Formats: sequence, C-alpha cells, structure tokens
Amino acid sequence: EKDGFDWFMRKEIFEQPRAVADALLGRHTESGALQLDEVRISEQELRDIDKIIIVACGTSCYAAMVAKYAIEHWTRIPCEVELSHEFRYRDPILTRQTLVVAISQSGETADTLMAIRYAREQRSKVLAICNTNGSTIPRESDAVIYTHAGPEIGVASTKGFVTQLIACYLLGLYLAQVRGTKFGDEIAAVVDDLARMPEHVQAVLDRADEVYAIAAQHAATRSVLFLGRHAGFPIALEGALKLKELAYIHAEGFAAGELKHGPIALIEEGLPVFCVVPPRGRDELHQKMVSAIQEIRARGAHTIVLAEEGDESIAPYADVLIRLPRVPTLLQPVVAVVPLQLFACELATQMGHDVDQPRNLAKSVTVE
Ligand code: F6R
Repeated sequence: EKDGFDWFMRKEIFEQPRAVADALLGRHTESGALQLDEVRISEQELRDIDKIIIVACGTSCYAAMVAKYAIEHWTRIPCEVELSHEFRYRDPILTRQTLVVAISQSGETADTLMAIRYAREQRSKVLAICNTNGSTIPRESDAVIYTHAGPEIGVASTKGFVTQLIACYLLGLYLAQVRGTKFGDEIAAVVDDLARMPEHVQAVLDRADEVYAIAAQHAATRSVLFLGRHAGFPIALEGALKLKELAYIHAEGFAAGELKHGPIALIEEGLPVFCVVPPRGRDELHQKMVSAIQEIRARGAHTIVLAEEGDESIAPYADVLIRLPRVPTLLQPVVAVVPLQLFACELATQMGHDVDQPRNLAKSVTVE
C-alpha cells in the first residue's frame, strides 16, 4: 500500500501533484468564475465581513500565515492568524462581521475545535478548511472547503499542507470575486497559475535526488536554520518544523529581515542554512534576500538556496542551489515547501528514524 515507497510520508510527498489537482477540481467554470459550493454563508454575509481570523495549529498554522498574505492582497480585508490555543484564551474581539477560518487537516484537533466553538458562541461565522469528510470541525462550522488530498497517513503533514494552501488561495479569490475587489480577468489569471501548479510540483519532485544528496551530506548535522521573507517566511518555519519532528534536531525558521535583530549571532562556520528566495518579480524582496544570504555566507554559513529557474544573481552566494519553477510570489510556497519536505524525510531516514511515526507525536491531537 506504500506503492513501493519506504514510507507513507515519501509516498504522500510524491502524491502532491495529484493532490493539488484534486484540490482544484471543479472549483471554477470555463469563464474562470469560482464556485465553492460548500460555502453555506450567503454572499451578502461575505460582503459584510470586516475581519478574518484564521485559527490553526502546527503546520496548518503555517498554511494560515501564507493565506494572510494572499487574502489581504486580493480582498483588502484585514486578516489575522492565530494559534488556536492562544486565540481561545485571550478574549479575542469577535463580532457577527468576523469570519473565523479554521484550518485542520484531521478536523479533530481539540484546540482548533474549542476555538471555533468559542467563535460561534460570539456569533461569528466559521469556515473550515479540512481534509477529512464528516469530521468534527467541519460539522460544527457554517461552511467548509474540503482539501481533497486523500487520507494522510504519515504523521508529518505534507500533501495535507499543500492542499490547505490551495484551499486558502481559492477562498481568497472567492472573497475577492464576491466583494468585487479584483476583476474577473485578474481572478482568472490567478486560477490559470493555480492550474499549472501540479506540473510545477512535479518538476520539483523530478529533482528529488539532488535534495537527497544534500541530506546525505548533512547526516551528522545537529542544527539547521531556514530563512524566508513574505510568503516564504512561513515556509521557512514549516521546513524547520518538519526537521524537528522527523530528524529530532534543532531547527529554526526566521524571517530574513529579523537576522540582524538577533539570529545572525547563531551563524557559525559550516552551519547549514536553507534560504527561500522570492521570485524576481518582487524586486525589493528579492534584493533584500540576496543581501541576507551574502551576510550569512560571509560569516561561514553553508547556504542551501532555493531560487527560481533563471535567477543567476544568487549563484555566487549559494553553496548549493535548488531550482524552483517560475511562479508568482504568492504561490511560491506550493513549490518551495517540497524540497524541504524531501530533505526532512531523507535526513530522518538516513539517521535511522521512523519517519511515519515520529517519537512523542500523534496524527491527530484530540486533547487540549
Ligand atoms: C506537522 C503536523 C502538525 C499538525 C497539527 C494540526 O507535520 O502534522 O503540526 O499540522 O497538529 O493538525 P490538524 O491540521 O489536523 O489540525
């Protein structure tokens, strides 16, 4: 049932092109207009929303962080992201005009469930993004977007995560359509970009061996850092979480702009640092990331750079270069996360750990 793979996780990583395609299936008409038929909140109610709060835990919360960049950009609705367990106990400001979005692969995470129960008591609308049909969180929500990744068996979320990203983009575009903050042709252009994501993810997977070779080089590493900016920042956090969970080593993700505010002190000779470089389309972001990479390299970091095809500016500062397909900045997380998943899976395998059942972890966390 692992289809010849050693781990369910590796199988699920390689299923991502199909999972992304399924997450998109039937969501838009020929004309490019979006239809999310599981959204049982009226269009008028959606037009009245004045704030979005996305609640989630772990990897799902990193999907939420990516969603914030896209949703605010496309809809101009203020969007907050909060860990479910922090949200619930801080007396958050919720009204009937607040849309609370709960992202949960399993649909059973107790912290997220408690958060949506609280939100509904305050009369806010709740929309779930979930992978598990009929699970508790979607049942208790006003609306649901299913991610259609298929069952995820590896404890570490992979195809669950990328399909959460797709669902978040669809939600953002749908809100933009209903509220008229984007023209139909602009939405259709993003939908076209999304439709090409399965082949882009496949292109990254086709070069998995390059990532495995990097893992082999670092099998004795005790610490790895990850840097990103903008939508690449949550991907840095996700890369670090995967490594903690699977390889049990110290791993941290940072926003590259934070380096000089502290973390740069961690850089020492030979320390592996993954750097997610934004596409060149966003010049100011790209340039700043290049400078950050120069800075850490000058201090001895071993830089493993993820940059888009054709981006030559980065080559002199990359000890290793991982090429990503050329995609818009907001969609880059879908392709950028894949080498980080492969790296964590492979490093843990080389270290002799059980990748599908990491120690101390459970697939769904049903206690608060
Ligand atoms: C990490 C991982 C966890 C989950 C988190 C939330 O690989 O899988 O961090 O993302 O426990 O789970 P769900 O999405 O089921 O609410």
